[in-house]
Amino acid sequence: MYQLIYVSDKIETFTPSDMEEILCKARKNNAQYGITGLLVELPEHFIQILEGTQDKVEFTFNLICEDIRHTNIRVLLAEKTRAREMESWDMGFSEDLDPSQLDDARLILNNFSEKQNFSDIHRQSLKLLLKSLCHE
Ligand SMILES: Cc1cc2nc3c(=O)[nH]c(=O)nc-3n(C[C@H](O)[C@H](O)[C@H](O)COP(=O)(O)O)c2cc1C
Repeated sequence: MYQLIYVSDKIETFTPSDMEEILCKARKNNAQYGITGLLVELPEHFIQILEGTQDKVEFTFNLICEDIRHTNIRVLLAEKTRAREMESWDMGFSEDLDPSQLDDARLILNNFSEKQNFSDIHRQSLKLLLKSLCHE
């Protein structure tokens, strides 16, 4: 298994219907490619986890990188894992984050996006935090 976590900046003209379209496409394509994960939407950013075989994750990530609806894509983590950790996460999504969840998400952006080396505990807490913001 392979996992990739990135953050990006939303374009200013992004609309709710863009989000609906992305989720619809993501769920359809990812099911086909055996990709699980989650997507956190913040007012100005995205944070996404993609999990699957390395070739499928990289293929999908390349498509995502070409998408003009976001920019400044920064990979936080890209690594092999022993087993699938997001079995039941068929592209989970963060719907209507409350103010304290938004604070948690901003903490992730501020504390993790500049990080170079992740200890195991940081890696696990990053994933737990992201899962806590999303619905399966
Ligand atoms: C923040 C963000 C996350 C996305 N996540 C996925 C994803 O997980 N899977 C996917 O196939 N497309 C995702 N997309 C959409 C792709 O960039 C692209 O539009 C889509 O894969 C094209 O699908 P199609 O060739 O079936 O039209 C995402 C786009 C954005 C902006």
